[in-house]
Amino acid sequence: MSETATQRTEREDFQATSDPGLLESADRGEVHLLTYEQLYDLWERQQWATQDIDFTQDRIDWHERIPAEERFQRMYGLSSFFIGEQKVAEELGPMMRAAPTEEMRIFLCTQIADEARHVRFFNRFYDEVGVLEATNLQDRLAETSEHVNPEFDQLFDEMLKSRVDHLARKPEDLVALVEAVTLYHMVIEGMLALTGQHFILQYNEEVGTLPGFVSGFNNVARDEHRHVAFGARFLREMAQEDSKYGDAITRTLTEVAPIADGVLQPKWYVEGETEVMGATMEETRAFAMKALERRLKVIGLAPVADAAAG
Ligand SMILES: [Fe+2]
Ligand SMILES: [Fe+2]
Repeated sequence: MSETATQRTEREDFQATSDPGLLESADRGEVHLLTYEQLYDLWERQQWATQDIDFTQDRIDWHERIPAEERFQRMYGLSSFFIGEQKVAEELGPMMRAAPTEEMRIFLCTQIADEARHVRFFNRFYDEVGVLEATNLQDRLAETSEHVNPEFDQLFDEMLKSRVDHLARKPEDLVALVEAVTLYHMVIEGMLALTGQHFILQYNEEVGTLPGFVSGFNNVARDEHRHVAFGARFLREMAQEDSKYGDAITRTLTEVAPIADGVLQPKWYVEGETEVMGATMEETRAFAMKALERRLKVIGLAPVADAAAG
C-alpha cells in the first residue's frame, strides 16, 4: 500500500467510523462497532458541502494535462460512481422503512441525505469541469451510462432493485432486508465503492491531478465507511439473533460474487496488458476481498470462498 493510501485509511476521521475494513483488529474479529446513535452523532460532526469545492484546477487538468485515452479510461470509474450514487440514493427509502428499530431508521435517513450529496458532488464535478456535452443531471446520467458494464446494471437493476421492490410491498420481511443490506452495504459500498475509491484517490494523488475531486471524494469515502459500519452492526445483530439471517448473508454473497467481480473490471480491461487506475485486477480484487473478510469476521461469519474470484 502506498504511503498516501496508508495515511488515508489511518486518518482519525476515517477510523472514527469503526468500519471493520479499516481496522487491523478486525483480523482477530475484535472491533468495537459504534451504536446507531453514535453513528448518527458522527454524521452530524462529519458534514461537508459540495458547493465549497473549487474545481478550477480540475478543469485545467482534465482538458490540458490528461490525455484523451486516459480520460476515456477514467470515465469507467467516474460513470460507475455517478450512476451508482444516484441508484443507491433512490433505492434506500424502502430499506429505511423496513428497518426494525427507530434508531436504525433515523440513521438510514441520514444516509439517504449523504447519497443525495454524493450525486450532487459528481454532478457538480461533471458540470464545472465540462466532462460531457449534456447540461443537466438527467441527461448527464444518460450520457455517462455508456461507460458502465452489463454486470453493473445486473447488480443494481436486478439484484438490488428486486429486493427493494419486495421490501416496499413487504417491509416486515427481515430476511429480504438482510439480503438487501448485504448487497447494499457489504458489496456495493464495502467491496466495490470503497475499493474503487481507494485506487482512484491513490492514482490522482500519485500523479497530482484533480485536486478538487480528490478533496470531495475523500469526504465521500468517509461517508461510505460510516454507512458500511452501520451495515456491519446491523448484520452482526441479525446473525446473532437467528442463524437464518447468517445463512441469508452467505447465500447473497455467493450469488453476487461473479457479478461483483464483473463490476470491478472495465469492458476494455485486458489481463496482463492494461491497468485500472494504476492497479492490476489482482491487486484490486485482493483489496476488495481483504475488506470483506475483515467485516465478515466482525459480523461473526466465515469468509465466503472466492467471493470475488470469478
Ligand atoms: Fe454514496
Ligand atoms: Fe453510501
